[in-house]
Amino acid sequence: MSQAKTRLVVLISGSGSNLQALIDATQSDDLDAEIVAVISNKNAAFGLQRAAQAGIATEVLDHRGFESRDQFDAALTELIDSYQPDWVLLAGFMRILTATFVRHYQGRLINIHPSLLPKFPGLDTHQRAIDAGERHHGASVHFVIPALDAGPVIIQGMLAIRPGDSATELASRVLQVEHQIYPATLHWLADKRISYANEQTLLDNEPLPATGYQMDFTGNDDTH
Ligand code: GRF
Repeated sequence: MSQAKTRLVVLISGSGSNLQALIDATQSDDLDAEIVAVISNKNAAFGLQRAAQAGIATEVLDHRGFESRDQFDAALTELIDSYQPDWVLLAGFMRILTATFVRHYQGRLINIHPSLLPKFPGLDTHQRAIDAGERHHGASVHFVIPALDAGPVIIQGMLAIRPGDSATELASRVLQVEHQIYPATLHWLADKRISYANEQTLLDNEPLPATGYQMDFTGNDDTH
């Protein structure tokens, strides 16, 4: 008997290159997962075009139309829930979410962040990693909890910082890592291998370390 496909709603604010990687994975890898809607808080987000091109329902919920963060998040919750997703994936969604929103989806709300968490939560991660003299950097797919960029990691992808790297150069290599680790996570979601319990990520019912499953991309770097 065929099981229902895993239903995903993806939230974006911008270019949506991670969204594209997720779309490509669902289309080419014959996954038991489908993106049922893409929601943006910005009308001009290019990711909306990517979704429409793939035949995915799109929605715009402009935060500027709401008096408070609570009201926006309540409307967002209603919109997301109308699609009955199993998972809600943040992919460059540039809004801080209220604790009420996060608790509503806790255990099925996932984000991708461009650093090796717990290092460098927040913005401007690439420049901060360079300024701190880090040798390695990367990206993390993680469960969202009310504290910003602090939830347990699912997959972390690491690369080497090259001598003389600019933040822009580094960002573009990290983005390539993101495009590997988010679809890899999607495979696990489709295969129902990931869950969340006691503030930990479980893979096949076994807790992962707080920094998640490690994917090493340092070998892709010709300076090493
Ligand atoms: C990515 O770097 C992601 O980690 C961060 O925002 C960026 C989104 O890029 N949260 P894109 O819209 O997926 O191209």
